Parts: sequence; C-alpha cells; structure tokens
Amino acid sequence: MSQHILVLPGDGIGPEITREAVRVLEACQAQGLDITIEHDIVGGAAIDRHGVPLADETLERARRAQAILLGAVGGPKWDTMEDISKRPEKGLLALRKELNLFGNLRPALLYPQLAEASSLKPEVVSGLDIMIVRELTGGIYFGQPRGFGEREDGTRYGYNTYIYDEKEVERIGRIAFDMAGKRGGRLCSVDKANVLEATILWREVMNRLAPEYPEVELSHMYVDNAAMQLVRAPKQFDVIVTGNMFGDILSDAAAMLTGSIGMLPSASLNEHGCGMFEPCHGSAPDIAGQGLANPLATILSVAMMLRYSLNAPAMADRIERAVGRVLDNNLRTADIAYDGTRQVTTREMGDAVVAAFEQDSQ
Ligand code: NAD
Ligand code: IPM
Ligand code: MN
Repeated sequence: MSQHILVLPGDGIGPEITREAVRVLEACQAQGLDITIEHDIVGGAAIDRHGVPLADETLERARRAQAILLGAVGGPKWDTMEDISKRPEKGLLALRKELNLFGNLRPALLYPQLAEASSLKPEVVSGLDIMIVRELTGGIYFGQPRGFGEREDGTRYGYNTYIYDEKEVERIGRIAFDMAGKRGGRLCSVDKANVLEATILWREVMNRLAPEYPEVELSHMYVDNAAMQLVRAPKQFDVIVTGNMFGDILSDAAAMLTGSIGMLPSASLNEHGCGMFEPCHGSAPDIAGQGLANPLATILSVAMMLRYSLNAPAMADRIERAVGRVLDNNLRTADIAYDGTRQVTTREMGDAVVAAFEQDSQ
C-alpha cells in the first residue's frame, strides 16, 4: 500500500528548500518508491490563513501520514505576537508533542569536499561524523508551570520549568545507546549535573542503562565544556545524547563544523518509527526569496526519511551519493562557496542533485 507523506513547507526559505527536496522525493517515486505526496501549511503561513499555527485538520493529516517533510517556520512578521501559543514555532512544537516525536537525530557529518567551507581548520574537522541525539518533547521546552507573572512591586517576570522524569530519560537514552552500538561504540551524555536536579537524574538514568549496553562506552560531560570541546576537538565525539534545549544549541554549533547550518538534516521519531524530517536550520528571513538558501539539509532529511520511516535504505544511500557527486563537481550555494567553486542557486542545486540521483543506477 502506498505510504502517505505530508509536506509542510512553512515560512521564509521553507517553501524554496522544500520544493527542491520534494523534487528528489518525486525522483524516488519515479524509481519505484510507492508513496503519495500531500501538501499542507504550518507556522506563519497557517496563522495568516487559519489564525492558528497548526490547524486541527493539518494535525489530523499529520497523524495519518507515515512521514512528514517540514521546511522551517517563523519570521519577523509574526515575532511581535505576544501570545506565544499563537506563534509559528508553536505549530512545530505542537506537531512534535502531539505525534510524540521524542527522538531527534541530528547527524553532523562533514562531506570531505566541504572541509574548506568549515570555519575551523580542515585538519580539525576532516572525517567528522557526530550523531547528536536530542530529546525533543520534554525538558524546559514543555515543562509546567510556565508563563509570566508580576511581583508585588510591579516588576514583571517570565519563568519556565526544566523537568524530566525517568521514563523520558530512559527512552531517549535507549535510542542513543542503540545508535552508539551501531556506530563507533562511544556515547557522551551532556548535562549540567553540577547545577540542575533534572540533569542529576538524567545522569543517574544514563548510568543505570549503561550495563545493558556493554559494547558502548558511556561518558558524561557538562554542557559548557561540551560546547567548547565541539569547537576545540570535535572528532572526539561519536554519539552525543542530551536534553531538548542543550541539543538545540549544540546542534547549531555542530552544524558549522560541517561547513554550514544549511548542511544539517534531522529526523524526529516516535516509538513506531513514524517521523518528521526537517533541516536543523530556521526560516532564514534574511535570505528568503533570493535563491540563496542551501537546500541540501532538507534533501538529506529526505534521505533520513527513506532510511528511518520508509524502509528504503538503498534509496537513502543513493540520495546521499548524489549530494556527494554534486559537491565533487564543485557546485555550491552561497553559504558553502569559496574560491574555486561554482556558486549556484537553490533551484540549480536541486537540479544538480536530481540529475546525479537519476544517473546513479546502482
Ligand atoms: P536561521 O537558522 O533561520 O538563520 C540563521 C542564519 O543561518 C541566517 O544568517 C540564515 O541566512 C542562515 N541560514 C539558515 N539556513 C540556511 C540555508 N539553508 N542556507 C543558507 N543559509 C542559511 O535562524 P534564526 O535567524 O535564528 O531564525 C529565523 C527564524 O526561524 C525564527 O523565526 C526562528 O524561530 C525560526 N526557526 C525555525 C526553525 C524550524 O522551523 N525548525 C529552526 C530554527 C529557527
Ligand atoms: C529547531 C528550532 C526549534 C527548536 C524552534 C523553531 C522551536 O530551533 O528545530 O532547532 O528550538 O527546537
Ligand atoms: Mn534550533
């Protein structure tokens, strides 16, 4: 039976990058992948049309889909909205929460052709291959209570709650241990257990799981040190597991090691393997509509969709090889261009990946 894919382009560069990724998905379809592609809207686009960032019927379609491809949401147009529950980002957070997509995989992999594009020295990043496993439906992003208040003297305050329970930590821990077991066998759990109770518990649970995974070597690191180590000697990491907010921040830092935030894809999975696939970057309002956006993170998110939700790993490999081929041919969007490479637009990059994919008959 045909599997349903829901495409939600979002705002800013979202529609531009998603368009190219959908072309790659359609190329897979033409090669026999049995999927039905549907489109809907989310984020600011949905606020403009429905008055809410995620319409009920869109959520229902998302629930029925085997996988979702999302561009990015948000932008200055909606940044002044006081009620945070009505902002574009809330649509994305609601999808993650409602579909229970607690396991977020963010692979920071340096394509060797891009060693020169990284802001770090090529020898520091060459061979880099880190998998960040970010908890995505808990922590300070969702903890209650939260809100605004006012002190007796009229001073306003805002507050959030950083909370994890043992079950939430255990399920993300198991994803990370499994991942490390399939990769280099090293798992670094990143926390702030010198200050925050929620992460003391996090560390305890990780330690409790460790004996069940004798093939994995578990270590712990405080998040401030981890940020420093990521730019000092990133190749020391194999798999990193961390909470929602630390994972958000560290993955943007790790993205830069790979040449650009425009190179980092992601998969957000629930326990059934259904998932949402999106680039790690945002809607980049500063470059929207100019053909400058790098679509590769979104295209590589399609590869993750094929691997993790559609059980089509060979086709996923083929997309990743096509990206490698395009980089071999020195084609670069502005964010990864440097002397001696040829700068192309978002659309031209999509064209090149589709052509390389179609030529690869393996
Ligand atoms: P951003 O990731 O959108 O942009 C940061 C910088 O990276 C900008 O200079 C941008 O031009 C550049 N950049 C990002 N993606 C790029 C790409 N594919 N190609 C080339 N350059 C790229 O982060 P921001 O500016 O902090 O946020 C802008 C908006 O996006 C905000 O509304 C934010 O909430 C939202 N956001 C959404 C998501 C998401 O939907 N998953 C993620 C992050 C931020
Ligand atoms: C991301 C984004 C989101 C997050 C925002 C837009 C809600 O930054 O996917 O990394 O913080 O998770
Ligand atoms: Mn982020």
